[in-house]
Amino acid sequence: MKPGTAVILLGRGGYSSAPGEQMGRLVAALRAGGAYGLVTSAFVDGGSPALPAALELCAAQDMARLLIAPVYLPTDRNLDKWLKRLVQRWLQHNPAAGFTVYMTPPLGDAPELAAAVADLVARYAAAPLTPLAANQASPNSPEWSLIPPHSYHALLCRGPRCNSAGAGEAAKALKQCLKAKNMGDDAVLVAQTGCLFPCNLGPLMVVYPEGIWYSGLSEKGIERIVEEHFAGGKVVAHHARYPSRQTQQRPTALEQV
Ligand code: FES
Repeated sequence: MKPGTAVILLGRGGYSSAPGEQMGRLVAALRAGGAYGLVTSAFVDGGSPALPAALELCAAQDMARLLIAPVYLPTDRNLDKWLKRLVQRWLQHNPAAGFTVYMTPPLGDAPELAAAVADLVARYAAAPLTPLAANQASPNSPEWSLIPPHSYHALLCRGPRCNSAGAGEAAKALKQCLKAKNMGDDAVLVAQTGCLFPCNLGPLMVVYPEGIWYSGLSEKGIERIVEEHFAGGKVVAHHARYPSRQTQQRPTALEQV
């Protein structure tokens, strides 16, 4: 029988480095206990790696069990159901993975969590904290009143479905390709967003002023959009989708090459 249990701590992402650092500390604490053969983290949305990438990592380590522990608050029952279906589908496509997968109950359901929070708050309440003094300075930066001039506005979805389909890799490729072309915010103003609605078409990026929904974005697809659309002014028809009353399909992996 194969030895070892792998653990994936599953969080909700953000676009700063803080979520990664906090998850890193949780992972380090679990690793320090030495009870598991592999401990890693993944993000449902916003951050990287996404859950499928973490599943691949665990599959490569020849473990007998995999425990997925969602460590985010608040609990989202619909999201939990979808995550289970995502893992089941992944297992269907990876029969050689060789481990049995379990998902723990949501963190927010654990009575110990309420006790731990109460304990922490009591500890902080007794600690010498620095009070926040009244201050009339606005919490907002003046720059947040500015709509910067830009040629294109690109909304890149980092919602759960797009993230699990590769939006993290697409985001990285977009940043690199724009940098290589010396294109800043004035050329392409990029905003990473939550779910944009047609998840089955993801990874998705909506580009204005044309209102094009670029679907099924691989790194290669992003390279083409930067080269042909943002730099060349020509829509990449292969990935382009438009609002309609018909369901649509994203390009297949083969077509994206
Ligand atoms: S998660 Fe991207 S459209 Fe829903």
